Amino acid sequence: MDNLFQKNVSLKPYNTFGIDVKAAQFFSAKTVEDLREALLNAPGEKFILGGGSNMLLTREITSPVIHIALKGIEIISQTKEKALVRVAGGESWHEFVLWAIANDLGGVENMSLIPGNTGTAPVQNIGAYGVELKDVFHSCEAMSVSTGDLRTFTLEECQFGYRDSIFKREIKGQYVITSVTMELTTKGHHKINTAYGAITNELERMGINNPEIGDVSRAVIAIRQSKLPDPAQLGNSGSFFKNPILPKATFEKLLENSPELPHYPAGTDMVKVPAGWLIDQCGLKGYREGDAGVHEKQALVLVNHGNASGSDILRLSRYVQEKVQQTYGISITPEVNIF
Ligand code: EPU
Repeated sequence: MDNLFQKNVSLKPYNTFGIDVKAAQFFSAKTVEDLREALLNAPGEKFILGGGSNMLLTREITSPVIHIALKGIEIISQTKEKALVRVAGGESWHEFVLWAIANDLGGVENMSLIPGNTGTAPVQNIGAYGVELKDVFHSCEAMSVSTGDLRTFTLEECQFGYRDSIFKREIKGQYVITSVTMELTTKGHHKINTAYGAITNELERMGINNPEIGDVSRAVIAIRQSKLPDPAQLGNSGSFFKNPILPKATFEKLLENSPELPHYPAGTDMVKVPAGWLIDQCGLKGYREGDAGVHEKQALVLVNHGNASGSDILRLSRYVQEKVQQTYGISITPEVNIF
């Protein structure tokens, strides 16, 4: 077992914030058997690393790090209207979206360019531009961290909510998702979703009237590239905070002083407001403390301008939370996992 894990490996290439901390022990699992062996033989608690796109590392990781590098995409069944596609946990989410479009399979095009791996997508039910993973999700296979046994989770069992699932709550840390199976539409049966205003505007700008799934994907990529920084150029973890969901009464009070506050309904009697807007209104867009900054085009994203440490980013995030709390009386919470 000792020789399975490498010692003192920098995690900088494995987290999109580009934070340079070390893993005392590191192993990249390329097969399900490798993964089981590493889980069962490494002592104590394990640190499971997927695409590293939703985490902030603030210290050396002393528990054994197991990097999920399981690969493979396959169509497991197909009818005239639908295809069931199984994607291994270590596949990049965006590479999978591109594969789906190249194969004329629909349902994930609105989620183009979301960073991270497919295996971690169910954990926080990734979503963008009016579509969430749960809308195409069929089931996933996951390995128990303690026994190495595989089990299937159905859509219902995952209990998906806004940036939420059972994997973040009741069974947190107990399973590693090894593959995700999605139900995609086939040629002629796609359901184009352009309800999100920004997509309609972008398609118009592109001069497209009857968009195909590839057009929607290109529009989403253009929108994201115009406001979200590319982690390869500027370290970041996408949205750092969740959009707060407020009781209607609180929201209405807020609206009295800020009539232009954007908002979306979130179930009965609740309203979701964009944390990015609140942070922006606090004057923090582009704000910087050393190399830790608030992105200049989308205030919900914190960025590493070069050599920020995890603690620098964490300090900045607390400052942002305080400002929003003081100005609006709203508490915003991180979406990223902090270690
Ligand atoms: N806004 C501002 N200033 C800002 C940022 C936003 O005024 O600096 C305003 C915008 O003008 C808009 C509203 O806030 O009226 C919402 O902004 P946007 O459409 O950019 O979306 P968001 O709510 O900030 C969410 C997701 C994103 C996802 C987009 C598009 C969360 C936490 N974030 O952001 O997801 O791409 O919607 O669907 O729900 C991610 O999770 O990493 C992520 C990028």
